[in-house]
Amino acid sequence: MNAKEKILIIGSSGQIGSELVEGLRDIYGRESVIASDIRNLEKESLEAVAPYEKLNVLDKDHLYALVKKYEITQIYLLAALLSATAEKNPMFAWDLNMNGLFNVLNLAKEGHIKKVYWPSSIAVFGPTTPRIMTPQFTIMEPNTVYGISKQTGERWCEYYFQKYQVDVRSLRYPGLIGYKSAPGGGTTDYAVHIYHEAAKHQPYVCFLSENTGLPMMYMPDAIKATIDLMHADPDKVKIRSSYNLSGMSFTPQEIANEIKQHYPSFSISYQPDSRQQIADSWPQSIDDSYANNDWGWKAAYDLKLMTEDMFAHIKY
Ligand code: SER
Repeated sequence: MNAKEKILIIGSSGQIGSELVEGLRDIYGRESVIASDIRNLEKESLEAVAPYEKLNVLDKDHLYALVKKYEITQIYLLAALLSATAEKNPMFAWDLNMNGLFNVLNLAKEGHIKKVYWPSSIAVFGPTTPRIMTPQFTIMEPNTVYGISKQTGERWCEYYFQKYQVDVRSLRYPGLIGYKSAPGGGTTDYAVHIYHEAAKHQPYVCFLSENTGLPMMYMPDAIKATIDLMHADPDKVKIRSSYNLSGMSFTPQEIANEIKQHYPSFSISYQPDSRQQIADSWPQSIDDSYANNDWGWKAAYDLKLMTEDMFAHIKY
């Protein structure tokens, strides 16, 4: 690995950011991976995550100053409003999700950094997309603010690659599930909360209906995919919008049944809310053969393995 790489993670306190900081520090060393987030951290967490900078990605002067201060070569931009939160504040979501991306892409275009990672999502798809084994290239008519911002972002990433040779790489994450960090306002969050309630011996009230199938992925797979993509030979990264990425697919009923293998008295009930409509517009499963063929991606975890590992770590 190139020892001279200096990496800035924007959104380091979030669900993906907190795990990527750890993953990248294991590879590059602590001092080479700068964590940043809009949150003010208490002294204790500050020391645990240092080097850390408080940063609003919309403040492009501050972003530029940090890039110069630490001689940053790569940025992972993870700060965004997710699907459910974005629906509550559409204009702010659009501003943050788009202008945050432009601020980072422009630093690369101007030659201040060499490489950019930016996550996209299954939310780029919409009700007119084929829902089973959704192809890489297909109809995309997202009907959420989050999905519209991710799809637009994908178009701009490809544009910056083609017009300005910006080395930007991206994955369309499915719902992400992990035990180390809490999800931040998405439609797939139930699949994290449900494990915690089960481990607390509590019943779970699910905000999606029992047969809502969605694509999901265990966090170690997501972190591995991200780092593999960023380490892939540039010639192998043939898609510069964003790659479909698949882990597993399940419904709330199926995950509840798997949980019952560990907690037989666990019970679930269903009270769908506004997130149901979002889930109904998304695919149920994803065809990720381009990621597989181009840079060798293959997920390791299915629902059973993930559930075992989640409960090996979640203790109350
Ligand atoms: N997990 C995300 C969400 O539900 C999808 O990108 O918003």
